Amino acid sequence: MKSTPIFESAGHRWHIVHDQDESRVIDANVYALQYGDSAMLMDPGGFEVFPSVLSALIDVMPMASIKTALVSHQDPDIASSLPLWNSCVPDMTWYVPSLWVGFIRHFGALEAHIEGIPEEGMRLSLDGLPLEIIPAHFLHASANVHLYDPTAKIYFSGDVGAALLEPGHSPLVGDDADGGRAFDLHIKHAEYFHRRWMPSMHAKQEWCERVSKLAIDFLCPQHGAIYSGQNVSRFINWFSELPVGDWRVKPET
Ligand SMILES: [Fe+2]
Ligand SMILES: [Fe+2]
Repeated sequence: MKSTPIFESAGHRWHIVHDQDESRVIDANVYALQYGDSAMLMDPGGFEVFPSVLSALIDVMPMASIKTALVSHQDPDIASSLPLWNSCVPDMTWYVPSLWVGFIRHFGALEAHIEGIPEEGMRLSLDGLPLEIIPAHFLHASANVHLYDPTAKIYFSGDVGAALLEPGHSPLVGDDADGGRAFDLHIKHAEYFHRRWMPSMHAKQEWCERVSKLAIDFLCPQHGAIYSGQNVSRFINWFSELPVGDWRVKPET
């Protein structure tokens, strides 16, 4: 895997770690936010990809700067690397939706420092940088969170926005000022994922209304590619119209 910068301004940086080389586990992105001397990981990833995530990250930041991790929900592709991270950086703080703390503990490292996120979300500061943990219940897990960085206008959206793409794909969806052509090609690879994994029309609608009011330059999903510029509102509008919650839907061919 490799680290690619998404945003940089005066010691404030976002990176995506992407291009997974192991194809037997679902392809997933990890995001890292650096501010001052601290770094925070968003959905640090699965046990199997830990060595490649770690080696991509230490190309761009000291391991000791990684102080915090956000776990959007309980899936193994999100956080089964927790015991490995904990053995490398034992003073990390893990922010996990309260509902899932006892489940996440099954990954191991009972001594890890886990903070439960309240159901209504919370505010957080990374070395003075204000951040918001935004609830995204039932998208797809019954307790689920996202993270908003209002300074960088970056929204980490967990499994929302996920697409199942071919290996070697670009970290961005494509040109956002092309009238939507790149978006239309991309979104075909996102449709099955959202229709099959997202269970609740009500939760989806609530999320679309809430997030459409935020200033977002980059919407960053845990699978697939980043929506930037006009592709952010294209995605929110598309998701708002999409029927979800039907297990009979068939994968795209
Ligand atoms: Fe998931
Ligand atoms: Fe996922």
